[in-house]
Amino acid sequence: MVTNDNQIVEEIDCVEEIVKRDPSFIPERYILTEKDVSKDMELPLLSAEVPVIDLALLSKGQGEELKKLDEACKYWGFFLVINHGIDEGVLEDMKTAASEFFKLPLEDKMRYQFDPVAIEGYGRPYPVAEDQIIDWSDSLTFRLYPARGRKLELWPNKPAELKGAVEAYSAEIGNVGKKLLGSLSLIMGMESNDLPELHKEMQISMRVNYYPVCCEPDNVMGMSPHSDATTISILLQDNNGLQIRHNGGWVPVKPVPNSLIVNVGDVLEIWSNGKYKSIEHRAMTNGTRARISCASFVTPQMEVEVEPLKQMLDDSQQHKLYKKVIYEDYIRQSLQRKQEGKAIANYAS
Ligand code: OGA
Ligand code: NI
Repeated sequence: MVTNDNQIVEEIDCVEEIVKRDPSFIPERYILTEKDVSKDMELPLLSAEVPVIDLALLSKGQGEELKKLDEACKYWGFFLVINHGIDEGVLEDMKTAASEFFKLPLEDKMRYQFDPVAIEGYGRPYPVAEDQIIDWSDSLTFRLYPARGRKLELWPNKPAELKGAVEAYSAEIGNVGKKLLGSLSLIMGMESNDLPELHKEMQISMRVNYYPVCCEPDNVMGMSPHSDATTISILLQDNNGLQIRHNGGWVPVKPVPNSLIVNVGDVLEIWSNGKYKSIEHRAMTNGTRARISCASFVTPQMEVEVEPLKQMLDDSQQHKLYKKVIYEDYIRQSLQRKQEGKAIANYAS
C-alpha cells in the first residue's frame, strides 16, 4: 500500500501504531460483524493434543516415527516437532529481534515497505478490499531460499541483531524443511529425494507475524481462518493464539518450549490426492500480551505443475481429486486477496 496519507497507512498496515495511539480504541474495520462472529466463533473449543514427532528418530527412518507422521498428516494436518536439533538461542534470538522490529517507530519500519513483486518487506502481503475486515496483525516477510532470491535491501538494519537472527534461523529451518520433505517422501511411497525433487528447487519464505495486545479479543481476529498455499509450513510461536480445525471444533495449540509446529499445506494435499490434509487454522488475539510467530513456508518453484501423484491413487481413492495447476497460478490467486477458508476447494476435479 503506497500512500502518503499516514492515517491510512497506519490504520491498514500497522496495528501497532493504532495501539500506541490509544490502546482502548479499535477502528471499525477490525471489528468482526455478527455474521463473522457466529461463523468463526460458534464452533466449540476442544481440548486435544496435537501429535508430537521426534525429528531425530524420523530422520533415522525409524518405522514407528514415520507411521506417526503419516497418521498426523492424515488425521490432523498438524504436528509438533521436537528434537529438531536447533539451538534454543537461535529460536529465542529470532523471536526477540523480530518483536523489537515491530515496536520501532513507523518511519523506521516504512523503509522496508512490502514490495509485492519481490514478495518481501513490512506490511500486508495481500491487498485490502474496501469492505474487508482486517486482521489484528502486522507482518514482515523474508525470502529465505534460494538465497540468491533475497532482496537484502528489504531486510531491516534495525534492530541490529535482526539480520543475523534471520540468517541463523533460516539455515536451521532449511535443514528441518529438507528432512521433513525426505520423510514425507518415504511415507508417500517414494525415495527420500523424490519429493524434494518435485519442487525443482525448494523455496522457503518466512512471514513474521506480530499480534499487538488487543482490548477486544472476542471481536477481533489476529489472523482469519485459512489454509496455507504451501507444501508444508513450519511455525515458531511464543505464546498461545494458534487454533486449528479438528473434529468439528477448534483446537488451541499450546506452546511447547523449543518445539516447532508443522502443518500440511495445499500443495501436499494435492500431491497426496487428499490423503494428507491442509487444515484451516487461525490466530486469536489476546488482551494481555503481544504475540510473535514466525511462519516459514516451504513451496515448489513457480513453474512446477502440481497434481495428484500416481502412487497416491490407491485402492481407496483411484480418482484424482484435484486438477493439475501451475504453482504460480495457485499462489497468485491466493495472494490476490486476504486468504479466507481453503482456496484449494476451487481446484477440485
Ligand atoms: C500463517 C499462520 C499462525 C500464527 O502465518 O500462515 O497461520 O499463529 N500463522 O501466527
Ligand atoms: Ni497459516
